[in-house]
Amino acid sequence: MGITLIKISAVYFAIGVAIGYYMSSAHDYALTPVHVHINLLGWTALTLAGILYHTFPILAKSLSGKIHFWLHNIGLPLMMLGLFFVVVFENEALLPLVATGATVTSLGIFSFVFNVLKNLKAS
Ligand code: HEM
Repeated sequence: MGITLIKISAVYFAIGVAIGYYMSSAHDYALTPVHVHINLLGWTALTLAGILYHTFPILAKSLSGKIHFWLHNIGLPLMMLGLFFVVVFENEALLPLVATGATVTSLGIFSFVFNVLKNLKAS
């Protein structure tokens, strides 16, 4: 699970940096919220979680780890697609998708935090 998350995070890194590169080149900063969340929740957070799951297998084996994996990987793309649509088309029709994605992602991250606090122990 850890390695899978690190690979997924590398894809987010490429997308996040590509958006940043586009914004710098075009002097169009409208996509900053998408860029920031893809880089921070997609790249950095998932890489760190992946390293933790790989280093401490007990975290990856627990139910809360699996819940985090799925909620983070379902919620974040929904949130980013919705936010992209809202920003690019200046249309708030997909705000409920942003809210749903953000809620699912947040629940996943709360599950990750619960897992770390409950199961991570000094050996
Ligand atoms: C080649 C890589 C990158 C490029 C070209 C780039 C470009 C940009 C640009 C053009 C902005 C908008 C600045 C503005 O609104 O004035 C921005 C904002 C931001 N970027 Fe990046 N970025 C890159 C990588 C990253 C990475 C790796 C992260 C985090 C892991 C990151 C985090 C942020 C944050 C937090 C902001 C918001 C800053 C603010 O509004 O105060 N960026 N970036």
